[in-house]
Amino acid sequence: MTDKLPVVILISGHGSNMCALADRAKNGDLPIEIHAVISDRPEAPGLLRAQERGIETAVLRLQDFNSREDFDIRLGETVERFGPRLVLLAGYMKILSSHFVRKFAGRLLNIHPSLLPKYSGLRTHQRALEAGDREHGASVHFVTEELDGGPLVIQGRISLRSHDTVESLSAKVHLVEHMIYPQAVEWFASGRLELREGVARMDGRILNSPIQLAIESANQ
Ligand code: GRF
Repeated sequence: MTDKLPVVILISGHGSNMCALADRAKNGDLPIEIHAVISDRPEAPGLLRAQERGIETAVLRLQDFNSREDFDIRLGETVERFGPRLVLLAGYMKILSSHFVRKFAGRLLNIHPSLLPKYSGLRTHQRALEAGDREHGASVHFVTEELDGGPLVIQGRISLRSHDTVESLSAKVHLVEHMIYPQAVEWFASGRLELREGVARMDGRILNSPIQLAIESANQ
């Protein structure tokens, strides 16, 4: 028996957030056990990085199914087979169906590279630069059927500098993500964070706004 929280992580790409979580767990800093990393893309570099860490991996490609519905049902079954009490989206680029979201309601978190509700969807760094924003960052939220719209848990903020580019922002926001995602997962694993009656609660109190972290070290 282990008292570590069983977790499944869904990825589509590099998996740096997955690695940040796995490495914290391995060091004993995060009470989770990653039962599987699942990708919709067989070429996702994160799959290899998971295997190098001794984590089981699986691939489920949409094009191998007759319909989107079949894919979603199988994805739900595959995730469930690994027995997670928490499912983490970490750069998973497919929009999940209502079926999937309902199945894992209250135990499904996502990380998004903007200060939500600003810039849901794609190209968030470009959009923050074009808007001339002074701040940018990342958000962790519970996943609901509204795209990037579920209850927020924590945000990490950085200041935008005049020399920032999409690339520099992407690097800085990734650093922020590697801090706030493990933090949110730790709160969930320790029972402090929950989604109840559609709202996020921390220590039983409703989170009217996300917990904020100003991250100086990512702010160069
Ligand atoms: C992150 O920026 C995350 O916020 C977004 O996709 C990116 C994934 O990066 N959802 P990685 O694969 O974890 O490196």
